[in-house]
Amino acid sequence: MSKLANEPDSAAHKKEAFRLLVKNTLERRLFYIPSFKIYGGVAGLYDYGPWGCAVETNLINLWRQHFVMEEDMFEIRCPCVTPEVVLKASGHVDKFTDLMVKDEVTGDCHRADHLLKNFLNDILAKDAKITAEKKKEILTDLASLDEFTGPELGAKIKAYNIKAPDTGNEVSEPYPFNLMFATTIGPTGLVPGYMRPETAQGIFVNFKDLYYENGNKLPFAAAQIGSAFRNEIAPRQGPMRVREFTLAEIEHFVNPYDKSHPKFKDVAHLEFFLFPRAEQTGLKDHVKTCIGDAVAKGIVDNETLGYFIARTYLFLTGIGINKEQLRFRQHLQNEMAHYAQDCWDAEIECSYGWFECVGLADRSAFDLKAHTSKSGVELVAHEVFDKPKDVEQLTIVPNKKILGKVFRKDQKILSESLESMTEAEALALKAELEEKEKTIYRVCTTGQEFELTKEMVTISQQVVKTHGRNFTPSVIEPSFGVGRIMYCLYEHCFYTRPYTPGEQVSSVFRFPPLIAPIKCTVFPLIQRKILNYKAELISNSLTRVGVSNKMDVTGRSIGKRYARTDEVGIPFAITVDFNEGVTVRERDSKQQIRVPDGEVVDVVRDLANGSRPWAEATSSYQVVLVPDAEAES
Ligand code: ATP
Ligand code: GLY
Repeated sequence: MSKLANEPDSAAHKKEAFRLLVKNTLERRLFYIPSFKIYGGVAGLYDYGPWGCAVETNLINLWRQHFVMEEDMFEIRCPCVTPEVVLKASGHVDKFTDLMVKDEVTGDCHRADHLLKNFLNDILAKDAKITAEKKKEILTDLASLDEFTGPELGAKIKAYNIKAPDTGNEVSEPYPFNLMFATTIGPTGLVPGYMRPETAQGIFVNFKDLYYENGNKLPFAAAQIGSAFRNEIAPRQGPMRVREFTLAEIEHFVNPYDKSHPKFKDVAHLEFFLFPRAEQTGLKDHVKTCIGDAVAKGIVDNETLGYFIARTYLFLTGIGINKEQLRFRQHLQNEMAHYAQDCWDAEIECSYGWFECVGLADRSAFDLKAHTSKSGVELVAHEVFDKPKDVEQLTIVPNKKILGKVFRKDQKILSESLESMTEAEALALKAELEEKEKTIYRVCTTGQEFELTKEMVTISQQVVKTHGRNFTPSVIEPSFGVGRIMYCLYEHCFYTRPYTPGEQVSSVFRFPPLIAPIKCTVFPLIQRKILNYKAELISNSLTRVGVSNKMDVTGRSIGKRYARTDEVGIPFAITVDFNEGVTVRERDSKQQIRVPDGEVVDVVRDLANGSRPWAEATSSYQVVLVPDAEAES
């Protein structure tokens, strides 16, 4: 590596300094707290403090409004503790793994793909003398990271001679580690279960009842918000990679032969960054694309997936995610699960780089088929044709008269068994009877065997007129990691500004009012009974109309109190002084208006719910100049 490798890399340093500033504010003001801190903490587990809880509640409420209400979805809630059989059927018991390597000396664990990724990014950031050819090789490896199999990753780690971080020791070959937390259900310890790694399975297993509740009609969607648990191998990215987190998931069930969406036309004009497969493998950048064009050209597989991508864009930018730091990245071909038709991740750029915050996948019929076959309960939808259609159908007709004569009382069980054969079994039996005239048939439920002859059962394929058919719906799944979105939002909303000129800076979260943890603070200008009394009346009235607020009657200077509320992103502050009316201050402009006592509650309510922009309020009410307030210390 060149000499430059040891010199500070300014872009990386700036990012880290910024992250530290945000982290200090978030932890000092209790947005989040490393869990069990007084015992030394546990990696990947965080508590949310008062402001973090409030922001999460607001974010989830907006999500409910934007998706559950506007799309008329069913919301359900299932347990986190899940019996093994469910997660066996879904494939999680066998396949929900990440590739891990171990430090050969200390036994420390590392995620194999992250080890390679960090190593390669480090070379790119620090080695200024790298050749164009080498750079291309590294970029190609980075673009293919999610596609590498275990042996491929192992070969790359060897080829680049990558050692364990911190110790420099050799690392093992990559091997799969299952991320689920195992448990047992009940006191015997004999019923295995897991803490759910996603909420989706709870929706799939309820499909039949939800479909019925929807009047046996498709499409429809069900949503679930709740905790998910993943025993991440090495969670080193703060609140972005944790072991317990809130997911907000949607399963939209749709006819696999018709994935159009009636409301796609409302979003088709939207333009935002897409990062299709071809751009990634061609080492190009994401491109601003019109979602209507992307669907028309087949870059995005279908309208329904495109619709949810666009709605996700609107949601994320609506809550304050910066448009320029949001892109939708398509999964590479081998990165997708084998059953998936198309997958896009909403990635948000933060100080940790571009990070998946929402996964949007067309999972085809995989989950419903898997649960149908494991549970024996048919999770299917029924389609009624506009006009009856000629369909080739298999019919199995046991000759009950002959069967009765030969097998007496066993006729019934034998006939039922024959009638319930699958198409493949029936065709195999038919072929055998045609070839050999007779065969031994085994009833699988009882184990009894019978010698069947050709005339005992008629198996034929006929064209019949049908009025409808059963089919397994496809599922389009947007899956939102609430904690990751929140953390990115914190970074995107954070800024600093001078507090005392030439001296300190103070930090501010520029949260949109609907996301802000509370909407308003109420201050008496100075400590006086009469001012406190009026402030309390206003605070109570705000509470009565549902505007969350907090009084600050500490003896701190007004400037300090403003700075403290700016630091947690409260958008408005009402100050009660000795004049007529009160002042209302807006966080980012620091502008103040004077509002009559009788109007202040309505004004602040409208400002807080977004129905009245600040600019409009400043044209309706007198803007007041309070030059010293902000600089007071
Ligand atoms: P990654 O590759 O980053 O581990 P993933 O591909 O496993 O993520 P999904 O299985 O698609 O993620 O999960 C859906 C969403 O859950 C993600 O978009 C992300 O927002 C969130 N998520 C997944 N793992 C974590 C985690 N360890 N901590 C916080 N959020 C997570
Ligand atoms: N409106 C009171 C102050 O800012 O000083």
